[in-house]
Amino acid sequence: MSPQSLCYRLLLLVLHFAFSSSRATAGNVSAIIVFGDSTVDTGNNNFIPTVAKANFPPYGCDFDGGVATGRFSNGRLVTDFVSEMLGLPSSVPAYLDTGYTIDQLATGLSFASAGAGLDNLTAKFTTAISLSQQLEYFEEFIERLKLAKGHSVADEIISEALYIFSIGTNDFILNYFALPIRRAQYTTLEYVAYLIGLADAAVRDAYRLGARKIGFTGLGPFGCIPAERTLNLDETGGCNEEYNQVAMRFNAELQDAVRKLNRGLAGAQVVYADTYSVLSTIVANPSDYGFDENVAQGCCGTGRIETSVLCGLEEPLTCQDPNKYLFFDSAHPSERACKIIANDILNSALRVFL
Ligand SMILES: *[C@@H]1O[C@H](CO)[C@@H](O)[C@H](O)[C@H]1NC(C)=O
Ligand SMILES: *[C@@H]1O[C@H](CO)[C@@H](O)[C@H](O)[C@H]1NC(C)=O
Repeated sequence: MSPQSLCYRLLLLVLHFAFSSSRATAGNVSAIIVFGDSTVDTGNNNFIPTVAKANFPPYGCDFDGGVATGRFSNGRLVTDFVSEMLGLPSSVPAYLDTGYTIDQLATGLSFASAGAGLDNLTAKFTTAISLSQQLEYFEEFIERLKLAKGHSVADEIISEALYIFSIGTNDFILNYFALPIRRAQYTTLEYVAYLIGLADAAVRDAYRLGARKIGFTGLGPFGCIPAERTLNLDETGGCNEEYNQVAMRFNAELQDAVRKLNRGLAGAQVVYADTYSVLSTIVANPSDYGFDENVAQGCCGTGRIETSVLCGLEEPLTCQDPNKYLFFDSAHPSERACKIIANDILNSALRVFL
């Protein structure tokens, strides 16, 4: 290599670091703090008794070192990519994993639990960590952070962190449409309203504890996840359009709730992150996104019904390359799909926090 080209490479390297560090501090995002379900559980369920686990192969086959961390994917999740794109660590620790130091948790952590919902009853059925319990863990974490860093540093970390809520699908697919209790109490529209009230309350709780930069993701077109296509009695293999309508209704009401929260919570910025659009666009135009092989079935097992332990029974994978699939199992996106979603929401809703 000539000296000029070496110089040029060094210059690029310096620019690269200057750029990444300016990105990291541009919007002062100190940490990413996550609440939710399997879409953002980075391993909490490994430490609780529940069947909703993903800490065995083939999960994690494309994660760093091929480790099955408990993430419901072949690799990283949307929030891992968001963290990295903010200049924070490339993966978000699970709060219940005691292997992390308080310094590591100070740049981000997830309280999420696969199987959780906005409705307390959902986590009861799945024995997941309810959203209320996740918020209690957040409170406990703040105390630990204050002890380790002092009050003023801890307060700054908490107020400058980006909070992500990704939750709600399980309330429909594992609770309302699967079991009779809530259906006997609420019409679908009433249940949507009930859940939105709980989403509003969760954001207010986080605000009371110090959260100021908050992103709430909407529901995806969950009628198109492989398991729901399989269970669709109207048109086997087709998307359940009734479920997609419910997701859209939920998202519309969530956006109203977000507008009201912004008026009511002084000093806070709450944004609605739309994941429905990008996912439905991918389903409609798979090859535009490199998912030519399959957007209707998961990569593991038959791809029609398996998640969690059922996925684990089916090694080796039935698909050659998980990243050519939109879904890794019958309910959860592949790593590459997660990266596309992360890019999409960072370039739209979350942009205000960059
Ligand atoms: C960044 O943080 C500092 C100190 O907390 C604050 O004064 C400043 O307004 C923040 N800037 C942005 C863009 O949030
Ligand atoms: C959910 O459970 C928590 C903890 O048990 C409780 O404090 C809260 O009131 C419950 N929420 C609703 C809406 O029932």
